[in-house]
Parts: sequence; C-alpha cells; structure tokens
Amino acid sequence: MKNVNWETQRQAVQLTNLDATISKYCAVSKGYYSDPYIHLFVSTKEKRQPLINRGTHARVQAVQRLVERFLQFTTPYGKRQIINLGSGFDTLVFRLREKEFLGQDDVFVELDFPEITRTKRQIIQQHPSLHSLLGTTSFQKVHDGLSCGIYSLIGVNLEQIERVSYLLEKVCQLSPDSPTLVISECVFTYMEPQNADQIIQYFSSTFSFISFILFELTFPTDPFGRQMVKNIEQRGCSLASLSAYPTLKAQKERFIQYGYPKVDIMSMYSFYEDVLDSEEKQRIERLELLDELEEWRLLMQHYFLLYCLKVNNNTLKDSEVNCLWDSFRFISKHRKVEEESSS
Ligand SMILES: C[S@@+](CC[C@H](N)C(=O)[O-])C[C@H]1O[C@@H](n2cnc3c(N)ncnc32)[C@H](O)[C@@H]1O
Repeated sequence: MKNVNWETQRQAVQLTNLDATISKYCAVSKGYYSDPYIHLFVSTKEKRQPLINRGTHARVQAVQRLVERFLQFTTPYGKRQIINLGSGFDTLVFRLREKEFLGQDDVFVELDFPEITRTKRQIIQQHPSLHSLLGTTSFQKVHDGLSCGIYSLIGVNLEQIERVSYLLEKVCQLSPDSPTLVISECVFTYMEPQNADQIIQYFSSTFSFISFILFELTFPTDPFGRQMVKNIEQRGCSLASLSAYPTLKAQKERFIQYGYPKVDIMSMYSFYEDVLDSEEKQRIERLELLDELEEWRLLMQHYFLLYCLKVNNNTLKDSEVNCLWDSFRFISKHRKVEEESSS
C-alpha cells in the first residue's frame, strides 16, 4: 500500500513539470517573453489566466537574469558549471547558448526523474536546431539521458544524495573549484526537507565557489497559503518541505545554517514591484487585462526567490567576494532611490 502511494505521489510530482511547461508555453504565446524552444516540449491548446501568465513571466525573468549575472561576473574565473535540479522541460540551456552567455568551455547539467529525462532526451534528439545550439552532432546516451561536451541530462531521484554526488563528480566530472551555480525551481517543495537540506549542504561543502538560486512557495499557514496547499495536495503531491520552512526568514536561515554566508530573499511581489524595470512592467501590463489585483498580490507574496553565494577564503579575498556579491544582487528601486538621495 505504501509503495502504491509512493508511486502515485511520484507520478503527481512529475506531472508538475507538464503544468510548468504549459504555463511557460502559454506566457510565451501571449508575448510575455521570448522562448523559441518551449513549443518543442508541449503539444497543447490549453490557455492560462492572465494572472498565471504574468506570474510565469516574473519567475522566468527573475531566474534568467540571476543566471546571466552569475555568468557575467564569473567570466574571469574560467569554466563555469550550472546544475539545474528538477529541470523538467526547462529550456534555459538553449536560451543561454542562443544569447552566448554560455561558452563552449562551460558545463550545464540537468537532473530530474528518469521518466522525465528519457522524454526530454527523445525531444532533444528529434530537433537538430537544438543540437547546433549545443554545438554538437552526436550525443552519448547516459543514465536515462544524454551527454555532449557542454551539456548533460541525467535521470536520478534527487532524494538519493550519494547517487547525485556520484553522478556529478564521477560521471559529469564537475570540478570542485570552478564557479558553480545550482538552480532549484519548484522542486524542494516536493521533497522530504531533510533530503533537500542534504543537497543544499552537499553543494556548499563540496564546491569552493558556489551559488544557489531557489524559487519556491511560502507562507502555507495563512488563509491564502492554506488554500494553495489544499489545491496542490488534491493533485496528489505532498508538500513536506513547505511546512518545515514556512517563512522567508526560515528559508534564509536554512541557507546560512547550511554554509552560505551571503543570502538574499524576496517575495515575487517585491521582485515584480521593486526590481522589474518599469518599461518591462508597462509592456506586459498592456498584454492582457488583469482585474484581480488583490489575488495577484496574494499569489506573488506566496512565492519567493532566494539566491546566495559562498566562496572559500583560500579561493578569493573577502573584498573580491563582496564585489562579486554586489554585482550579483538585485537592487530594488527603493534601495536605489535611497542610494541616489544619499549620494
Ligand atoms: C514544478 S516542476 C519544475 C520544473 C522546472 N524546474 C521548471 O521550473 O520549469 C518540478 C520538477 O521537479 C522534479 N522533481 C521533483 N522531485 C524530484 C526528485 N526527488 N528527484 C528528481 N526530480 C524531482 C519533477 O519531476 C519536475 O520535473
């Protein structure tokens, strides 16, 4: 009985990838942002409400901008390594290659359940336009996925930390000293908190120059949060990590405790209101009418973005790390205004 429940839950969690991919496809089709590759990963006529399209735009913008900043400020430090946990059908690697943020010496690894990586492998193999972006004509089949010079797609249960570390260190041969960025977008929520904690800790203790981007749900105990949890649990997903770290403060302390001295966290409402540039906001607000402003605010307050940095002091001087951190961080309009008025 326990196994049946576990299998059903695992399938429900995997279905969240489909949901995320359809949301991205719908936002792109409505003109919220550009992603020339997402249509290759969906076959749907579904539509999403303006609220969801706008939220998807903010989420993709926030993560992509942070990744691009990381790649910019680490340019002087040689090969960079990006690991996308629970990557689903995300197309970030292709978008970064198209914009030439990711070079031929860098490495991009995607991990997800084997059921997801096998399907993603099939789609990638079917589309030569994706091969040329990855700079290859041939792939090796590896661990329910595929691999070429700069890109590896691997099937694994992220709750098995020893297997994850084996795959990253021995199969992908990641270097512990190269600047490394981990992305986890809506993944830890579905994992047991102690297993997600082990991942956070594994990266900070294994890599000397490490950054983490986390995008998740939060505040499960207020009325909106309770309804949100109920809706997700009705789809068969358990949200164990959400109750273990239910606030922004708890999430920030979690990353500090597991080895990252520099951590910023903001709700997606703050990102939208204080960080996203006004011209971009005006552009997307003209795309579709959104009447439910209170629901929009509540929804965006229940998602957050965390990013952090740890660089060992035998790798870089503190002053250099502070400089890198400043070029990584988002500056909110309010902080900018404060700085402007004091200068
Ligand atoms: C909501 S989707 C997000 C996909 C992608 N990160 C994005 O933002 O579009 C969650 C993904 O995490 C994966 N996932 C969740 N728990 C996992 C685990 N224990 N091991 C491997 N993948 C997992 C799911 O299969 C799914 O693809």
